[in-house]
Amino acid sequence: MSQDRITVTSPLLPDLEEYSTMLRKIWDSKWITNNGSFHKQLEAALAEYLKVPYVSLFTNGTLPLITALQALRITGEVITTPYSFVATTHALWWNGIKPVFVDIEWETGCMDASKIEAAITPRTTAIMPVHVYGKPCNVKAIQDIADKYGLKVIYDAAHAFGVEVEGESILNAGDMSTLSFHATKVYNTVEGGAMIMHDEMTKKRIDYLKNFGFAGETEVIAPGINSKMDEIRAAYGLLNLRQVDQAIEARHQVAIKYREALRNIEGIEFWEDLPGVRHNYSYFPIFVDANKFGMTRDELYFKMKAQNILGRRYFYPLISNFSTYRSLKSASPDNLPVATKMAAEVICLPMHHLLKEEDIMRIINCITSR
Ligand SMILES: Cc1ncc(COP(=O)(O)O)c(C=O)c1O
Repeated sequence: MSQDRITVTSPLLPDLEEYSTMLRKIWDSKWITNNGSFHKQLEAALAEYLKVPYVSLFTNGTLPLITALQALRITGEVITTPYSFVATTHALWWNGIKPVFVDIEWETGCMDASKIEAAITPRTTAIMPVHVYGKPCNVKAIQDIADKYGLKVIYDAAHAFGVEVEGESILNAGDMSTLSFHATKVYNTVEGGAMIMHDEMTKKRIDYLKNFGFAGETEVIAPGINSKMDEIRAAYGLLNLRQVDQAIEARHQVAIKYREALRNIEGIEFWEDLPGVRHNYSYFPIFVDANKFGMTRDELYFKMKAQNILGRRYFYPLISNFSTYRSLKSASPDNLPVATKMAAEVICLPMHHLLKEEDIMRIINCITSR
């Protein structure tokens, strides 16, 4: 492997000197966690940037999922997607809830709303879809079903930072949405996450729940968890927010170049931007049709790897194929033909704000050369 490694992602890092200045302020204040000044500032700044009414910061993107289910007192069965990161389904498991998988749409990778009703039983209490790769789910159709059956909707919006449809944040859909600010995401606070909610009372209750359930010095309202974001990462997050638009635009330019180069390659499929959507270009998935391309997804993936180009088979295997979930009736591949095909064909190409023209050329050459 002579050539430099091209990684699938690269974290957006704040300017070190500016960050040092912020750290100095934290050192001077000696307030390092528990709803400090940077925490408050970041919640306000994110609410404004994301065009949402309320944001509650978390220590990662998994705990807001677990906490949302607790807050809404979800029990029994929840309809969800197998085409996601395991944390989505694990959050149900941690609440003693049975996941019920429904298939996805080939056009977006998101839950196929037309499959939801058939999966509803008397034990169903909620739907937990994922805006996978930041592609917006069919939120209208999902809400219509939820309203008809009296179900809650919690969106795992881990990938959907800044995504808007017709100028409105996708994060306003459903009862709650959750975000991940993990290092690999478009916007990161090293580790971190958030929950988006619509009203002040819910925000208050979530703030209690992420702090052990404390509603005051001596009152605990529920068996809460500890999932507070600290000042060190809130400060980092404030700085990263200033440059996230630039990073998204850099990713957009990478997507444009990939599309130009791959548009006429037989057997390689990818998605175009959707009309009216502000995308965040968090991932660039391609789908390899082995018959047409003359090479399987795995052959291409390992060819890239041999040339020091790290793609990612994301999401493969499906969550429903992991041992924890495999025995569920809804986990059967017969129930999930589209997700099964997508998991077998997908490679997420390297996608980040620092990819150079020559990196992109190397990736394209690797895919197209025989
Ligand atoms: C769809 C999805 N949900 C949840 C998570 C969990 O987020 P975190 O890693 O911040 O806990 C991730 C993170 O990778 C994710 O991709």
